Amino acid sequence: MQIAVIGIGPGNPEQVTFEAVRSLNAADIVLIPRKGAEKADLAELRREICRRYLDNPATRIVEFDLPQRDARPDYRGAVADWHRAIAATYDALLDREAGPDSTVALLVWGDPSLYDSTLRILALMKADFALRVVPGITSLQALAARHAMPLNTVAGEVLITTGRRLREAPPEADTVAVMLDGDCAFRTLPAADWDIAWAAYLGMAAEIAVAGPLAEVGDRIRETRDAARAEHGWIMDTYVLRRREAG
Ligand SMILES: C[S@@+](CC[C@H](N)C(=O)[O-])C[C@H]1O[C@@H](n2cnc3c(N)ncnc32)[C@H](O)[C@@H]1O
Repeated sequence: MQIAVIGIGPGNPEQVTFEAVRSLNAADIVLIPRKGAEKADLAELRREICRRYLDNPATRIVEFDLPQRDARPDYRGAVADWHRAIAATYDALLDREAGPDSTVALLVWGDPSLYDSTLRILALMKADFALRVVPGITSLQALAARHAMPLNTVAGEVLITTGRRLREAPPEADTVAVMLDGDCAFRTLPAADWDIAWAAYLGMAAEIAVAGPLAEVGDRIRETRDAARAEHGWIMDTYVLRRREAG
């Protein structure tokens, strides 16, 4: 069995690569996870990608429910159990749906290398398979493109981190890319020291973006984010912070 883990970009079907389309059409089975009502739009993007690009009549689409992570306080323990539960779900699914010669495609949001545990989860599976990864455009690339900005300063470094970690300790890097932030962690920084380039729903019809000195646009980002989240029922946003004297 071969499993192809295919990066599909961060939400715009036009940002799916030729290699991804070719790999999709080479698959016998495409697995589409359903992650609960909040993420219904994300499953819909995967379906839309299949509608647009899948023209191999022999390829079957199999949708399945992903186990949910339990919300206990021991975060790392909960994640480890959750990953094991997903690996067991994949094992059962492939046992039922795939044969030893099948090629199975898993569509991963953005790129599988960035804040995505698919590759870690596959390593927990019991099944034997060859693994192939097809890279996709990440939300950070889409963000940098949206704001027409280079991610790094000249010869500078970029810290890629989460909202949770930004809240825990002030960063030392000139440029900080923040993902998975449920609560505007940039508010914990001294606003006068930073510029911010923020966007939500990158590549989708609902895309919104705000950029400027953090002291001037921080509140607007928070209000915009709250309103968008209330309107859509979910939000995915990301931002880059640049220390002001770093240029
Ligand atoms: C689980 S991570 C997956 C990242 C993905 N593997 C990638 O390459 O971009 C999800 C986070 O990525 C960011 N993200 C993904 N897609 C996005 C989009 N279309 N617009 C804004 N942020 C996005 C958000 O910070 C979100 O919380």
